[in-house]
Amino acid sequence: MCGIVGAVAQRDVSPILLEGLKRLEYRGYDSAGLAIVDNENVIQRIRVLGKVNQLQQEHDNSPLSGGTGIAHTRWATHGKPSVSNAHPHICREKIALVHNGIIENHESLRQQQKQAGFEFKSETDTEVVVNGIYQALQINPDILEAVFETITRLEGAYALGVINSDDPKRLIAVRKGSPLVIGIGIGEYFIASDVFALLPVTQRFIFLEEGDVADIRRDSLVIYDKNRKVTERPINVSELSADVADKAGYRHYMLKEIFSQPDAIAESLKNRVDEDQVVISEFGQNAESVFSQVKAVKIVACGTSYHAGLIAAGWMEEIANISCHVEIASEFRYRKSVVTESTLFVCISQSGETADTLAALQKAKQEPYISTLAICNVAESTITRESELVFLTHAGPEIGVASTKAFTTQLVALFLLVIAIGRNNGVSKEDENIFVRQLESLPGRVNQLLLHKDEIEAMAKNFADKHHALFLGRGSFLPVAMEGALKLKEISYIHAEAYAAGELKHGPLALVDKDMPVVAVAPNNHLLEKLKSNLQEVQAREGKLFIFADKNSEVEASDSVVVLKISTIYDFMAPILYTVPLQLLAYYVAVIKGADIDQPRNLAKSVTVE
Ligand code: G6P
Repeated sequence: MCGIVGAVAQRDVSPILLEGLKRLEYRGYDSAGLAIVDNENVIQRIRVLGKVNQLQQEHDNSPLSGGTGIAHTRWATHGKPSVSNAHPHICREKIALVHNGIIENHESLRQQQKQAGFEFKSETDTEVVVNGIYQALQINPDILEAVFETITRLEGAYALGVINSDDPKRLIAVRKGSPLVIGIGIGEYFIASDVFALLPVTQRFIFLEEGDVADIRRDSLVIYDKNRKVTERPINVSELSADVADKAGYRHYMLKEIFSQPDAIAESLKNRVDEDQVVISEFGQNAESVFSQVKAVKIVACGTSYHAGLIAAGWMEEIANISCHVEIASEFRYRKSVVTESTLFVCISQSGETADTLAALQKAKQEPYISTLAICNVAESTITRESELVFLTHAGPEIGVASTKAFTTQLVALFLLVIAIGRNNGVSKEDENIFVRQLESLPGRVNQLLLHKDEIEAMAKNFADKHHALFLGRGSFLPVAMEGALKLKEISYIHAEAYAAGELKHGPLALVDKDMPVVAVAPNNHLLEKLKSNLQEVQAREGKLFIFADKNSEVEASDSVVVLKISTIYDFMAPILYTVPLQLLAYYVAVIKGADIDQPRNLAKSVTVE
């Protein structure tokens, strides 16, 4: 994945492109570049190895200026992060191009182009596209036709922005398999991987559809569909404000986002519950009828969203008496699976753009699921547009790469789904009223947990010099442990594994010694005594324990046991709450280690490639 921005305007577009890139950095940040057609109609380019700030510095030293330009922030797929692999790529000083996605047949195109005399300056899959456009232009000098001709030869996923020094007031944009929006200004147009990049310059957007090609000039926009027919796409007015990217005084976005969870949860519940009942129409017009027929649920997602699915599966079976199976999207999409009668397909995605989850949804739409439901945080995303039913978490934009508030609001959304489906399967009106009130108490309870931040910061000091950590949980708390381990490895680079506590003796116990911190999640539930026995096994091997325990669970601190006591929490809500201290633990370990918390190495927030 990567982020792309482009603009055609009367004014100098370089500040717009640089600001856009900063807002797209969550998509990748190993290298960056921009290219502008200057006043002499020459393409000028700056590229750097590193982040957009470095590109900004380079640009400050020798600014580019012009009314047509494209820019890119990269997350390397083909070819290491380097200046020569950074976009924009240029062919023979005529065509410049930025690309988000993967060209799968780049090897064969590269061979053909080498034979035709092209020299390659990068190791990327992208360079074949810019060369291909140049080749096509030699036959038909119209840039739009050249792009049409080139994309017929491409296999894979690509959002493209293309400029041509011979036709300097024109920008061609292509969307296939990777997201791309057009921003509409007054006498100017923009393109970007998402609306967020363009909010400082416009609130009006067109979402290109699969296979669309846009021919953009300052004063005209023509969109062609996948059959090359001129088409109209609706204009959407975004309600997002440009300043959502503010850290609000917090040191990192991640910390701000952890602390904004009470508000995010409250927002996600607002208008979704009424008189202690779930408002089912919030899942879509048809939801009531679909949910009344559901006999099984299939959940598919990636990363943190997958962990939310695992927790929800426990609720679905225990509360709604509905069989629920959860699968990683990259596995599901390539596997033959059997769809049982009246199964609802649910995909969970913070960004709504994750390539594997989107492909899983597209596969599900071809199969006999009763309906498809997306749980997503981005209203205008591809996954929400492709799904029949949609429930939007109202977490607000999440900037830190490690997901926090998106996760806890996904859990809230999933709990509402469990209640909604459970209405026809044993959840009484009284049960529903109780659950809704418990959900409504979550913001206050998360706030109480956040008060433990200093204790958790002190706890974090024990991890900073460690290379490995083990996370243990049982039942619904196994996915909580998995999420805690994922957070730690993502941002502190400590190798962390989560295990079902009962599995400890079947392998990982061999790893336990005084250098292996073991984190356990110990709510006061029916599995507590079993968990305590598992923890004894750790203590007997000199393992140091860090236990997040219910204050009534009679787990006491000692030389080898650090305990954070948590107020008693309603059983079903506890996975949501126990996640919060684990987020803080990972955060403070990463702070001590001096890691790049909001932009951890090798990762990106929105993974729009396979
Ligand atoms: C990336 C992010 C994770 C996220 C996962 C799935 O790996 O770094 O934080 O959980 O993608 O993303 P989604 O947007 O589909 O929830």
